[in-house]
Amino acid sequence: MRDLLRARTSLKEEIEILLNNQVKMEAEASAKYLAMASWCDRNGFKNSAAYFLKQSDEERGHMLKIFNYIMTVGGTAVSPEVPAVKQEYASFRSVFETALQSEISVTQSINRIVTQSRREEDYATENFLQWFVNEQIEEEDNARRAVELFDVIGEEGTGRYQIDKAIAKIGSEE
Ligand code: FEO
Repeated sequence: MRDLLRARTSLKEEIEILLNNQVKMEAEASAKYLAMASWCDRNGFKNSAAYFLKQSDEERGHMLKIFNYIMTVGGTAVSPEVPAVKQEYASFRSVFETALQSEISVTQSINRIVTQSRREEDYATENFLQWFVNEQIEEEDNARRAVELFDVIGEEGTGRYQIDKAIAKIGSEE
């Protein structure tokens, strides 16, 4: 049955698995950002909470984009299971450092699927993923900018308050 279904799509099973893994990774990123939003909110960093809520929405958008692509090309999109998410952070700064690390991992994962798509001569998937390649440039840049604010402004005195204020402008500053 499985082989019969596969005969109706040019999507190779290996690529389908990688794409479904990416769906899961984006879902996890969305959940992680929700936890970060909550941590920032309960520690008084309201702008950062709003920033992470927006990021969480974007990650869900990324997840759906890949999910829809798998369905469009005749694959089986799998609704992802999201493992337990870390709810506590040691410091304001560590939240943003974790976010940056998470974005770098996503970029590496997207790159691996692009490489594999090319190897399998799946140019449709390679082409589809170009949007994510570009999106990751922006996502990483924003995450890096946020971490930089901790050094540029400094955390002493009202520093963390100022950092939280500056976070609100990330993505809109050019
Ligand atoms: Fe969808 Fe921020 O990676």
